[in-house]
Amino acid sequence: MKTLRLNSKNKNDLITAAEILRNGGLVAIPTETVYGLAANALDGEAVSKIFVAKGRPNDNPLIVHVASLEEIPPLVEAVDPRLYDLADKYWPGPLTVIMKKSSAIPDEVSAGLDTVAIRMPSHPDAREIIRLSGKPLAAPSANASGRPSPTSAEHVLTDIDGKIDAVIDGGICSVGVESTVVTLATNPPTLLRPGGITVEQLEAVLGKISVSPAVLEQLKEGEKAESPGMKYKHYAPKARVTVVKGDFEKYKNFLLSQKHPSCAVCFDGEGKFFDNYIEYGSENDGASQAHGLFEALRKVDESGCETAFVRCPIIDGVGLAVYNRLIRSAAFRVVDLDISIPVIGLTGQTGAGKSTVSELLEKDGVYCIDADYLARKAVENSEVISDLTDYFGTDILVNGSLDRRELARRAFSDPVKQKKLNTIVHPEVTRLAVEEIHKAEKTGAKAALIDAALLFESDLTSICSFTVTVVADAETRLERIIKRDSISKEDALIRMNAQKNEKYYTENADIVIRNNGEDIEDEIKKIIGKI
Ligand code: TXA
Ligand code: MG
Repeated sequence: MKTLRLNSKNKNDLITAAEILRNGGLVAIPTETVYGLAANALDGEAVSKIFVAKGRPNDNPLIVHVASLEEIPPLVEAVDPRLYDLADKYWPGPLTVIMKKSSAIPDEVSAGLDTVAIRMPSHPDAREIIRLSGKPLAAPSANASGRPSPTSAEHVLTDIDGKIDAVIDGGICSVGVESTVVTLATNPPTLLRPGGITVEQLEAVLGKISVSPAVLEQLKEGEKAESPGMKYKHYAPKARVTVVKGDFEKYKNFLLSQKHPSCAVCFDGEGKFFDNYIEYGSENDGASQAHGLFEALRKVDESGCETAFVRCPIIDGVGLAVYNRLIRSAAFRVVDLDISIPVIGLTGQTGAGKSTVSELLEKDGVYCIDADYLARKAVENSEVISDLTDYFGTDILVNGSLDRRELARRAFSDPVKQKKLNTIVHPEVTRLAVEEIHKAEKTGAKAALIDAALLFESDLTSICSFTVTVVADAETRLERIIKRDSISKEDALIRMNAQKNEKYYTENADIVIRNNGEDIEDEIKKIIGKI
């Protein structure tokens, strides 16, 4: 189908849009939050086309948009009096209210629930189209399902050109994130999705409300979503997004020591420190971040970056909405760099006695983290598995779990593939390491230590306060390997020669520990002194 390009400045275009809607067609319309993909809410067949055009799961209900309060009574079982109080303050505007539905609402709109979500947008074009069509309009965000919501007509066309009858260009959306969704069908009312109207603003009218756990966290397996839209992967660019908590200094150091190229999605004025960056609003202004967020997430893909690190907003006011969208775009990958203990990166050649050093430090109150273990855990993550199978083929899975040997065979055959493997797995290893470090803090450890054979090849150095390498003379190492692994001298030599030379380790590390067996306790003091 050819998608008509209409412009809201042209009155005839608005009339055309209304006509398409009355005839059961789909029109993408501007609203103050994001563009919506509208159909006549009272026409189940028209509404069902929305799901097809977006590729939206059928169990995710839609919001019904009205232009006046008089349109509401026929849509609900009974108008909750609190609706009028909310409307008084926040309508028209970025607020959606859920109540028990009437039989006028087709199942396609409510996705089988006994409630309906209603919103009165403030955007003049949206209001004019509702009036001209004479119908309440069901409209989800006009993106392809899973993609960042569209804040311009161009975004809509990028996603669903050819799948809808028309799009009305009404400029860039002012709010930039979708409406706040609150249900009056629970007692107390529950915030299902944060948006431009804040919790504080709702509570000023409704008294204490509860906040759905899905707003700030990933739902646990089997947990029911109060708002079905919360359970789906959302707002996601193709790049792997990670949200980074902590001040700018920490963010900057973390990004600048990444081994793989990435895109910094940061606040205004911060971009100049990075090769690739997108700024998405000012640090202390949630509303400006909301305004720029989805455009920024779309730009990440245009930049060609496969990895993006996003500065975390202050999780308060409108910032709560920004954070809620960000963690979904990041498939809940959040790295919290607010770390209060020193983090030691430990590495060294095989046989140098790295384990002895970490055991001694452990006895001294240091929390030890094994990077091998993190790497194994990282490839159990479902997002990582899905990225790996997308690239390396589904047959690296055997009975649903990863065949690590087969993956290694495929990845290590080719430097490009190996790089891709690292791009997929390393951010998850780093995220898991930070999680472990926060566990260490809770146990009262005086420092955390990451034991990693490939420390300097990974991104783990980006979270280390300093790095330590353990070295030992070749003869000592040879003896140790033969004894430890019960192998022949020849095999031990092969193993040693496969590694980088001592200079590589000593040049990269902040502290060098020589462990030929004697004086190791003295050497360890170098580390303790630095903690
Ligand atoms: O700002 C907005 O709300 C935009 C513009 C176009 O108005 N619309 C929008 O719609 O964001 P959509 O479909 O992308 O998001 C609607 C959200 C989903 O998370 C959905 O699950 C939830 O509202 N929802 C709709 N009806 C519901 C109901 N009866 N009960 C619980 N959640 C509901
Ligand atoms: Mg949506």
